[in-house]
Amino acid sequence: MFVLIWATLLFSVRDSSADTGVSAWGRQHCVGRYCVTLSERELTAQAGLCVVIPCSFTNADEFTPKHIVWHKCEASQTKCSDDEIIFHSNKNTDKKAQAGFEGRVSRLEPDVSQTNCSIIINDLEESDSGSYQLRVTGVRNGKQDAFSFSQRVTVSVKGLIQKATVMIPTLTEGQQATLTCTAPGLCSGSVPEITWTWRGAGGTESYITGNSTDFKTENLTAFRQRHSSTLTFNPSAEHHNTNVTCKIHFTGETTTEKTSGLNVNFNVLHVLFACKEMSGNLSVKLLVSIAAVSILVNIIFIIYFVLFWNSRKKMKPKEEEQTYMSLQKTDVLSEYDVICQSLN
Ligand SMILES: *[C@@H]1O[C@H](CO)[C@@H](O)[C@H](O)[C@H]1NC(C)=O
Ligand SMILES: *[C@@H]1O[C@H](CO)[C@@H](O)[C@H](O)[C@H]1NC(C)=O
Ligand SMILES: *[C@@H]1O[C@H](CO)[C@@H](O)[C@H](O)[C@H]1NC(C)=O
Ligand SMILES: *[C@@H]1O[C@H](CO)[C@@H](O)[C@H](O)[C@H]1NC(C)=O
Repeated sequence: MFVLIWATLLFSVRDSSADTGVSAWGRQHCVGRYCVTLSERELTAQAGLCVVIPCSFTNADEFTPKHIVWHKCEASQTKCSDDEIIFHSNKNTDKKAQAGFEGRVSRLEPDVSQTNCSIIINDLEESDSGSYQLRVTGVRNGKQDAFSFSQRVTVSVKGLIQKATVMIPTLTEGQQATLTCTAPGLCSGSVPEITWTWRGAGGTESYITGNSTDFKTENLTAFRQRHSSTLTFNPSAEHHNTNVTCKIHFTGETTTEKTSGLNVNFNVLHVLFACKEMSGNLSVKLLVSIAAVSILVNIIFIIYFVLFWNSRKKMKPKEEEQTYMSLQKTDVLSEYDVICQSLN
């Protein structure tokens, strides 16, 4: 208890003398042999995501740290009260964390003798904004003791601005494709819900028939997870120039979404056949123009073919020219075939 009062009193004096005891490797603030290093005094975070408060401490040799306790209270209060605990590493104490923070706060280093007091707060809400204070409990000269540091960390939680990331491969008609949507944040909190929607031509919300979705969570580190969802479907011309939206729903009504346009490589002939099935002026006009163009191309080819045949008869070609001519002839024939198909 003596240490606590002494620390608090002395610290307020030191604090006014601005940043004394700030070391090169972080913002270290000491009261005697009790020091805390809060490398980030002000942190900005986004709702739905998480924040890490980096923290380490040192203590007098005769003090053995047992537990770390984090509080959140008004910046104007010198010391937060027991009602304002947001994390207590001793799960067997009657000093409980506030219900709203239960299960959302974890310490990064479970071994308190490492003097690492860093914590991660998940599933952030704007109401988590405030001033966070550390207290270390332990044993000093055989007696229970504790000290609170007046240095605080200010956390400001703003609305979510980070977007989902959508990866789209090259889409080719008839080749199954998989789109991937990754949630922002890489946090270890609640698993977000990821949903896909599709807007067809005309901007009407519809759905991709025969699609399948899959959800994946990857553990990057003990406190970093990547959540993603895949959408697998068979692209066709009807998906060309349409939009697909990936929506991510975090706990606490926080959502973010990302809309991406789809570009499908498709065979033009297939679309014309699809057009034929549709009624309306546009498709009729299209078919008429295609028919006209086809006939024109046919006539040009027939004329060309006749001229070519005649000139071939006139001269006796050399060996290599013969090869070239036969190649050209096959070319013409195959193109001719395709054009016939389009008229069917
Ligand atoms: C605290 O522990 C975490 C997790 O092991 C580590 O990432 C971090 O760098 C440590 N912080 C300090 C100040 O040692
Ligand atoms: C797709 O999204 C873009 C931009 O958001 C919009 O201009 C376009 O009209 C959308 N297309 C459809 C088919 O909804
Ligand atoms: C995928 O198909 C299901 C029905 O099978 C539908 O409810 C869902 O909206 C479809 N998703 C997309 C993105 O089209
Ligand atoms: C990721 O870690 C969680 C516990 O944190 C575990 O339940 C889960 O099985 C792990 N997933 C993978 C893919 O390793």
